[in-house]
Amino acid sequence: MCGIVGYAGRTDLASGPKALDVVLEGLRRLEYRGYDSAGVAVVADGEITSRKKAGKLANLLGEIDENPLPASNTGIGHTRWATHGGPTNENAHPHLADGGKLAVIHNGIIENFSTLKQGLVARGHVFLSQTDTEVAAALLGEVYHGEAAEDLTLALRLTSAKLEGAFTLLAVHADQPGVVVASRRNSPLVVGLGDGENFLGSDVSGFIDFTRRAVELGQDQVVTITPDDYTVTDFAGNPAQGREFTVDWDAAAAEKGGFDSFMAKEIHDQPQAVADTLLGRVDSNGRLALDELRIDADELKAIDKIVVLACGTSAYAAHVAKYAIEHWCRVPVEVELSHEFRYRDPIVSPSTLVVTISQSGETMDTLMALRYAKEQGARTLAICNTNGSSIPRESDAVLYTHAGPEIAVASTKAFLAQITATYLLGLYLAQLRGNLFRGEIADTLADMAAIPAKIQSILDREDEVKELARAMQDTTSVLFLGRHVGYPVAMEGALKLKELAYIHAEGFAAGELKHGPIALIDEGKSVFVVVPSPRGRYSMHSKVVSNIQEVRARGAKTLVIAEEGDEAVQDFAEWVFRVPETKTLLMPLLTVVPLQIFACELAGAKGLNVDQPRNLAKSVTVE
Ligand code: F6R
Repeated sequence: MCGIVGYAGRTDLASGPKALDVVLEGLRRLEYRGYDSAGVAVVADGEITSRKKAGKLANLLGEIDENPLPASNTGIGHTRWATHGGPTNENAHPHLADGGKLAVIHNGIIENFSTLKQGLVARGHVFLSQTDTEVAAALLGEVYHGEAAEDLTLALRLTSAKLEGAFTLLAVHADQPGVVVASRRNSPLVVGLGDGENFLGSDVSGFIDFTRRAVELGQDQVVTITPDDYTVTDFAGNPAQGREFTVDWDAAAAEKGGFDSFMAKEIHDQPQAVADTLLGRVDSNGRLALDELRIDADELKAIDKIVVLACGTSAYAAHVAKYAIEHWCRVPVEVELSHEFRYRDPIVSPSTLVVTISQSGETMDTLMALRYAKEQGARTLAICNTNGSSIPRESDAVLYTHAGPEIAVASTKAFLAQITATYLLGLYLAQLRGNLFRGEIADTLADMAAIPAKIQSILDREDEVKELARAMQDTTSVLFLGRHVGYPVAMEGALKLKELAYIHAEGFAAGELKHGPIALIDEGKSVFVVVPSPRGRYSMHSKVVSNIQEVRARGAKTLVIAEEGDEAVQDFAEWVFRVPETKTLLMPLLTVVPLQIFACELAGAKGLNVDQPRNLAKSVTVE
């Protein structure tokens, strides 16, 4: 939610002054975080020059072409997901203060902005926008000339301490070339380290074209970058230390690689995402080796309840996890949306393991739920795709998914990697607690190792799904049914279609159909059904086949995802897509893939931007 970039480089770099290029490249990579407006500011010749424009980054680039910016070695840039104030030119960042000498950009929400604004207005400040950011900028300008005696870092520190809510703030001042200051509370910020140049970004993709050396910052910290140095303090001014790390993917991994969209590319990355998430976690004896978890094995053995918290697609991965972990470990698993958990007085204790699942590691709802769980004494474990982000940093243990950068706003490969990681966790707990025989664990891991090739075989037949999607581009409503692990897959299929194609879609537990939703079925209604394996618990398969018949009898068009060799569904389906055989619990890793392809292709056929659906942002850093 909002992308932020900062740059300070030496003036004698062989590349010449490059602040604008760095900032625009960073914004291009961070645009997935919000695309309501974009803006930049550079420091040159004792002045701030700024350009900003509502709409996508392309609009800003057009504006800069018409009104070029001066060459500079110090700059900041912002791509916005609107919170306070609509997506207009006036509300776009940067916001200027101190007579145009100070430029500020911001990600987050400043909750006490209204009180602060009243005070500033009373002291004669005039505001041009409806944003909370402009209030922070005005306050920073005041403090800079007042208490901070023109020390920009001190000014930001003192200002940040007066703000409530969530924020990452970046500021540059006309009188301080080569300096960018930033502060963060509950909102992401990473430092990039170069040679004679340093960077700031909402995440590492903001500077991945220039360096892979990064520093993760803690909560309530202020950082100042100059071309040759960076310093970190807390809001009280005490020195603080960031954690340096090296980004394990390069700029090419964040490119489309010949696909029409990042989403299409990321769907095709899925065999690799699953394989990489398994990599190095199984030893040569077929046993799980998760030494990376920092929770003591005895403590994990003593866990008597697991609570899995997440939002959106990640929450559907959590639903899948419940089926697998309860079955393998015989420990009760509760799954809850992070924002509901946080505010309902939930019961957790030191023997509860709270697992958070988050691609970005910055989802505010999940971060707040994690903190609440910690306050209650729970042990916490994050399943996360983003090194250096807040959720893993604040958890007792981390199991990283290795899906690589996910740029498309709608999650695909991170979802499969999350499910894979929860399976690893479940099997590891079962191994520790002795719930499963060694052979059973090895057998399941062997089936998991075969999943990437099976996903690839689905991708090789994607045209079957694409043809259906193009034929259905005028559809206005689609239902998705599933049972057991097929139920979260149905919900995920519906979410993908809603968010990408703006089509009404709902996912139901197939057994629930007769309790109400069947009233939605009328002539020609399209219903996807995710059918469990006939080799598994036979009653479950036959019950879903009955559900298909029930909706078909009422005129629905049934679109079926079924296992290879499942002949029972053939006679009741208008369309069938076959997935390879695997264990029932592992099926989501296969059955969701055609549903992702369907949504992506249908949205593309409607001429929509599948990578940046309307009103959404990749990383939801507000509650
Ligand atoms: C949907 C989607 C979102 C995210 C949700 C949680 O395609 O991407 O529903 O899954 O916002 O995000 P993370 O996983 O970053 O916490």
